[in-house]
Amino acid sequence: MKFSTSFVLLCCIFACSHGEDAEQCEEDKCLIDSNCRCSSTNNPIDASTAPQLVVLAFVEAVTTELYENRWSELLESRKNPDGSYIGATFYVPHEYTDYQKVQDIASIGFEVAVHSISNDAHQDYWRDANVTLLEQEFGGQRKIISKFANIDEKYITGVMTPQFQLAGDNSIKAFVQQGFAYDSSWPTKSPYFPYTFDYASTQSCDVGNSCPKESHPGFWEAPIIDLVSEDDVCATIAACFRQRNNQTKEEISDWLVQQVDTQRQANRAPVILIIESTWFDNVENSWDGLVDALDKLEALPDVYFVTQARVIEWLKNPVPLSEFETGLIEPALGCSPFTCKLSKPDGTIRYMNSCVQCPKSYPWLGNPEGN
Ligand SMILES: *[C@@H]1O[C@H](CO)[C@@H](O)[C@H](O)[C@H]1NC(C)=O
Ligand SMILES: *[C@@H]1O[C@H](CO)[C@@H](O)[C@H](O)[C@H]1NC(C)=O
Repeated sequence: MKFSTSFVLLCCIFACSHGEDAEQCEEDKCLIDSNCRCSSTNNPIDASTAPQLVVLAFVEAVTTELYENRWSELLESRKNPDGSYIGATFYVPHEYTDYQKVQDIASIGFEVAVHSISNDAHQDYWRDANVTLLEQEFGGQRKIISKFANIDEKYITGVMTPQFQLAGDNSIKAFVQQGFAYDSSWPTKSPYFPYTFDYASTQSCDVGNSCPKESHPGFWEAPIIDLVSEDDVCATIAACFRQRNNQTKEEISDWLVQQVDTQRQANRAPVILIIESTWFDNVENSWDGLVDALDKLEALPDVYFVTQARVIEWLKNPVPLSEFETGLIEPALGCSPFTCKLSKPDGTIRYMNSCVQCPKSYPWLGNPEGN
């Protein structure tokens, strides 16, 4: 009996509980022409000739109020050194999102990506999730955006998970299964460039995180390089201000510019600036400081604000600054506006602006079409 119990246990350790760990990456086996890149802090070209790419990322429900009062003013008139309007990436959660506005965002050329359906506030919910649940959360939101904002799914390729929580390989399996191309949910203290999960990642896995270990060929990770303040490192801008609420516009602006400049003076790894509107409510001078920082960065000849998808495209074809183009995609779309009054599974009412006729119920986990 004893023998057979431990035998079953052993089988489980090797066969049922997890797949095989990925091998160490070797540059000569992992070629970008085969959509493979080792995890590393090396610029694919001579860093002094490379553009400094910056992704402005948003993770809140897209509402008309927030977009008109904040994001349009922050983003819409800015230009990159090639004369094109700047790019940015919106990781869209479902609840309270206005899908007519999402279509507007896409038609301007900003990237629309996925932040989940439930946006659950508990870290355990995400860390312990199985593949089925993760497919419903992220694949489901991809379907919701595609249908109700009328955007072809092929343009919705990225994921950022709530609170940067991955469920190890379960997350990546679910993303691959649902047709995504990249994840951006893994913060790093070292300046990593985006890479694929063909081989083992060398990014450090912080205590309490559940990091992918298996091979997922061709699926990209876009690491979030931590921002650094006097006493903290943080994945989002607001998180660096928990202890700081008495800075001037100039101090906030200088700090933000310095976050980009740290990479710009080194290997020019892409910087992701995650902007949350609660920061404007909670921290004095934050809005003015941010606008001032973006003004200063916009004036630099080697800094490009682009979508996360464009960053990954650049890694596949790493041209120098002199040949770089913003390259915004503006999918030809259309919207027949409908305002829908719908019930969630628990009976609460939500209003949802849609680009197609109203569904029967509020789209949700397991029922993204709202049938
Ligand atoms: C996955 O997790 C959900 C939610 O916790 C659960 O209801 C479901 O039974 C699980 N599915 C599998 C296949 O384990
Ligand atoms: C700002 O706040 C910090 C922390 O609360 C404090 O240590 C510092 O002295 C304050 N600075 C000014 C100029 O008020």
